[in-house]
Amino acid sequence: MAPSALQDSPPPLAAAKAGGQALEDVSDAVDAVNALKYDAASQFDTAKDKTAFRQYETACDRVRLFYAEQHAKQTVAYNLAARNRFHASSRARPELTVWQAMEKLDTLVDESDPDTSLSQIGHLLQSAEAIRRDGKPRWMQATGLVHDLGKLMLFFDALGTQGQWDVVGDTFPVGCAFDPRIVLAASTFAANPDTRDPVYASPLGIYAPGCGLDNVMLSWGHDEYLYHVLRDQSTLPDEALAMIRYHSFYPWHREGAYRELMAPKDWDMLKAVQAFNPYDLYSKSDDVPSVDELKPYYMELIDEFFPQKVLKW
Ligand SMILES: [Fe+2]
Ligand SMILES: [Fe+2]
Repeated sequence: MAPSALQDSPPPLAAAKAGGQALEDVSDAVDAVNALKYDAASQFDTAKDKTAFRQYETACDRVRLFYAEQHAKQTVAYNLAARNRFHASSRARPELTVWQAMEKLDTLVDESDPDTSLSQIGHLLQSAEAIRRDGKPRWMQATGLVHDLGKLMLFFDALGTQGQWDVVGDTFPVGCAFDPRIVLAASTFAANPDTRDPVYASPLGIYAPGCGLDNVMLSWGHDEYLYHVLRDQSTLPDEALAMIRYHSFYPWHREGAYRELMAPKDWDMLKAVQAFNPYDLYSKSDDVPSVDELKPYYMELIDEFFPQKVLKW
């Protein structure tokens, strides 16, 4: 490395925080677009708050750039490589309890502007609290509490995470034709080499009809990573694992795409994911929860569903 490059490099923690802030900005913008799209009619009619509208426009610009990169780079080859890095026996898996993971994730964005971004612990607790307030089961509260911990992948160098495009954003299957119902699909996928592969570009691609989403490779990101971490390290039910794995799979759970890949079990999973979605998108405007007050309740909840306590990430 040239001396100038050394001098120009920020210290690793600063770089991680800068990366974390940029990641959160994109993640928030994606959520803002998803939240407004969902309520488009009523929000648009009553959009008197010009400040909010400008923020949405800014979010849209940011989101457009983000998806141009994500849709160009999420290929079958990249997804196989990412999974190989995750499963590699040579990878020393970091060991953290769920609460330690929450605190670690919080350090990624702890210098963020509180006006624009709630802390990660804040978002996880708000989601869990909204689920709890609605009297939903304890396993669903636990799911709300952990659902974004996959963003920790940014911290773990051995995973080879490239940037924001393979951590956040809506997800979709790779290995078959990209459905036009994927957000911004019309203008972004031409740059993806898989669209020129005769198999990957065919409607079912490498999959059989009704093969079940368990057998479908979803674009690599924080949802897919956390699902792979938790599937054999928790007592959470299948519905919870589906909420984690598919919470950003908007073309499926909102737009109705990819029905031809579903197995009978997936219809129950779809209901679960749709039930979870509002707690992720719409709890952000709730009061900021007190971490200290809530910690005892959630520590007990964590013990219930993560009995081995220390997880391998
Ligand atoms: Fe998420
Ligand atoms: Fe979330």
